[in-house]
Amino acid sequence: MKTNKLFCFIILFFFLIGCSPVKSKKEDKYKDFKEKVDSVLSLMNLEEKIGQMVLFTSGWDVTGPSMPSSNLQDIKSGRCGNIFNAYTVAYTRKLQNIAVKESRMKIPLLFGYDVIHGFKTIFPIPLAEASSWDMEAIRNSARVAAVESAASGINWTFAPMVDIARDPRWGRIAEGAGEDPYLGSRIAAARVKGFQGDDLSLPISILACVKHYAAYGAPLAGRDYASVDMSERMLREVYLPPYKAAVDAGVMSVMSSFNDLNGVPATESRFLLTKILRKEWNFKGLVVTDYTSINELVPHGVAANEKEAAELALNAGVDMDMQGSVYYKYLSDLVKIGKITEEQIDTAVARILKIKFLLGLFDDPYRFCNEKREKEIVHSKMHIDFAYEMACKSIVLLKNQNNILPLKQNTRIALIGPLAEAKRDLLGSWIAAGEWDSIQNIHQTIKENFGDKNVHYAKGCEIKKEEKSGFAAALKTVRNSDVAVLVMGESAEWCGEAASRSNIGIPEIQKELIREVAKIGKPIVLVLMNGRPLAIEEESQLSGAILEAWFPGSLGANAIADILTGKVNPSGKLPVTFPRNIGQVPIFLSEKNTGRPYDPKGTEQKYRSRYIDCPNDPLYPFGFGLSYSKFTYSNLQIDKPKFSHGDTIHISVKVRNDGTYNGEEVVQLYIRDLVGSVTRPVKELKGFQKLMLRSGETKTVTFKIDESDLSFYRKDMSYGIEPGEFIAFVGGNSSDVLETSFRFE
Ligand code: NOJ
Repeated sequence: MKTNKLFCFIILFFFLIGCSPVKSKKEDKYKDFKEKVDSVLSLMNLEEKIGQMVLFTSGWDVTGPSMPSSNLQDIKSGRCGNIFNAYTVAYTRKLQNIAVKESRMKIPLLFGYDVIHGFKTIFPIPLAEASSWDMEAIRNSARVAAVESAASGINWTFAPMVDIARDPRWGRIAEGAGEDPYLGSRIAAARVKGFQGDDLSLPISILACVKHYAAYGAPLAGRDYASVDMSERMLREVYLPPYKAAVDAGVMSVMSSFNDLNGVPATESRFLLTKILRKEWNFKGLVVTDYTSINELVPHGVAANEKEAAELALNAGVDMDMQGSVYYKYLSDLVKIGKITEEQIDTAVARILKIKFLLGLFDDPYRFCNEKREKEIVHSKMHIDFAYEMACKSIVLLKNQNNILPLKQNTRIALIGPLAEAKRDLLGSWIAAGEWDSIQNIHQTIKENFGDKNVHYAKGCEIKKEEKSGFAAALKTVRNSDVAVLVMGESAEWCGEAASRSNIGIPEIQKELIREVAKIGKPIVLVLMNGRPLAIEEESQLSGAILEAWFPGSLGANAIADILTGKVNPSGKLPVTFPRNIGQVPIFLSEKNTGRPYDPKGTEQKYRSRYIDCPNDPLYPFGFGLSYSKFTYSNLQIDKPKFSHGDTIHISVKVRNDGTYNGEEVVQLYIRDLVGSVTRPVKELKGFQKLMLRSGETKTVTFKIDESDLSFYRKDMSYGIEPGEFIAFVGGNSSDVLETSFRFE
């Protein structure tokens, strides 16, 4: 008992300070390992080396974990050095025993898993977490995921996904941080630090894997796995920064993506994997492919067969083959016929072994795992509390006409909609070991908060099925109530991998129900559950209040109810633009001005960059989100009108909470470079600060700007600043801003 308490205390201590007890200099540490790595490598035969470059999946069947006996044999013979999708202490120990007790080299296995937004305690989906704009909370969420999964035998997560996504048709937009490279980079770094901590060998750290490198988030027409074609300028300015931020934050593995980029599949791109990643960014970790993406070089049409594909991938810089068996089958032959060299294999294996040393696996292949500890740590009270906090921070209030929200205690609520009783959907996609049977749904939490007698539920319809038989009961319930709370949106399986949609609206049957409810004339509170920005122009007009809950995780229903009662004041801000309709897609903040910008107030309307059937502006802009507080911005000041090389300027603004609720606000700084050697975006996010303001309180927020904040890829593709005039905008979203200007000379 005493030992347990001590252990929990130590974990809590490391958790809170977010770092290891002994700080070590990274570079020295890598050097230390070099000798060890070389000595292991010198004892290995070619087959065993190739085995380290192989990653196979484990399966689960009704009776529990399972794996083909051939794979078990491969671990034993040293032909498979890494496993994914295996967890629990018992199962990983069983597999690790084979590797370290029965194989000749006794090299421990890596255990990978998609721990994306929690392991068993499930946090809001990453896009939702991004809406918190709270770096410490995001880092803590990744840390909880690391602590839980590490206690269950995992030592490697395939996260964070940092793909910038500007097309909500793409289902994987749910897994990232949205559209913006600045916010995306800050979040990428926070997540890496959360997963890895400062010392990978601690029992609360796991290896992070930044994915999907590169530009996987920009598939043609938003269709998953489709080709990506973009200029190098766009790639470097918008899509690469979050991967680079992850590398700078110390991420030690990178996953190559499925897509081709400008005609070259990422998994065989020397440009991406060697020139940029290794040479420009000095990445020292390992590169793993996405699932069978070496094999897919054949259907991509760049390799005639898998053997050729293996050669292309290795030459490009891929160290490990996920599930494809291509390295497994062909590398040895390719060495024999001289298409690749054993030195190339050694380089890849050395990277993999180094990671295993860094993780402490050679010291303790089980990484201090035992069933008792697993039981104590996984899904602990502290973790559940964090998931609740994160859900509260992630929800975005999009509309609150006449302050309908929060609802008064004695309000008679008609709770309508297929998602009000959903449990599995609350968790979103990629839920690792997450369980939903025991969590509360929205119906339960709303009843708990407003009382059984005040809450009447009628489903009304299914998520998608065209069936109106439930409408009548739902409408009757609304007629007998003061307010209709409609819980609508998507099912969890509509987001994540292979879940692109060509229509990003709420499904038609739910829309029809909303229209019918609206005819009754009672106020509507729309609670949305979804994994992408939705086109909800009509619903937005019909509703008095809209709460964007995303897929909020294990404690999401509790957070929603607490926001509806006013116990929690919403503070989320959109990390991605909400279009009015699918025709506006892609629509995002940092557009260019064009030579014919549209000015709705101008005299010339026709020959302008605009739609003739829809406004240019979005339904809800980037950075938008309301609060029960009312924040007023004033007194935007700049400390000097111009600055030059090596100097900084400071921009400050006063923010006052004029509401009756204490609340959190995200103060955002945007910049426009007025004249450049190439066209520049009309607004780019360059800073933000989240602050708590008590009712009536005023705070001054100051942003520091230096040359690096204003640098970009110039006409000749060199990176740096250009002299001239800049506009700075500050506000609580990208649209309602105060502005000032300054010069760089
Ligand atoms: C394919 C997905 O694209 C990737 O994100 C994931 O990590 C792997 N499968 C492994 O599950």
